[in-house]
Amino acid sequence: MSIKGKLVTLRAIEREDLPFLHKWTNDQEMNEMLGGWHFPSSMNDQQKWFETLHLNSLHQRYSIDVPGIGLIGTANLVDINWKDKNASHGVSIGDKTARGKGYAADTIMAIMRFAFEELGLNRLETTIIAYNAPSLALYTNKCGWTIEGTQKKWYYRKNQYWDRHVMGITREEYFDLVNKNNYWNG
Ligand SMILES: CC(C)(COP(=O)(O)OP(=O)(O)OC[C@H]1O[C@@H](n2cnc3c(N)ncnc32)[C@H](O)[C@@H]1OP(=O)(O)O)[C@@H](O)C(=O)NCCC(=O)NCCS
Repeated sequence: MSIKGKLVTLRAIEREDLPFLHKWTNDQEMNEMLGGWHFPSSMNDQQKWFETLHLNSLHQRYSIDVPGIGLIGTANLVDINWKDKNASHGVSIGDKTARGKGYAADTIMAIMRFAFEELGLNRLETTIIAYNAPSLALYTNKCGWTIEGTQKKWYYRKNQYWDRHVMGITREEYFDLVNKNNYWNG
């Protein structure tokens, strides 16, 4: 199966995707915007990581495809907690020519529909470094998420500390959003 948005398809990561993922993993601008941190990563590192992907179903990682264009980025649904019914999520549009076209917003809508309407989860969350204005706008303005709290000086980047926003959305907030914006029927 794949997870369909209105514009994008989320599918399993294939070995053929690895050269793109390798390039994006080593992209400095991407790394500055993402929460995790990395050392320079080789194709061999990518291949070893790929071999472990199927081992833990609680960490789902997807390639984002656009029909007629192909692979543009990745999204995930990780730390799935079946007891409390929550999970974490992230998205990156690695192909910079594909940015600004609504693909990330559609990816988040598709992840939310899958998480709330298929998996029966109750909340999703993510964390965002305070200077990542595009991402903050994406989640709050477009996708109904809120800043639920701010952890002071959590990240160390560019020789200084930065706050980390904890963002979240509950299933009720998701259904309020899609009832208001009629996303899936519009
Ligand atoms: C943040 C990111 C995912 C946005 O992807 P995108 O496909 O360009 O986003 P969309 O086209 O779906 O934009 C949806 C909304 O996000 C916000 N947004 C996106 N890019 C923005 C930018 N450069 N500046 C301000 N707001 C922006 C806007 O609210 C936009 O709505 P609008 O077009 O009506 O103004 C992309 O820039 C990216 O991959 N960045 C690096 C990785 C990253 O930061 N990931 C998120 C980590 S939490």
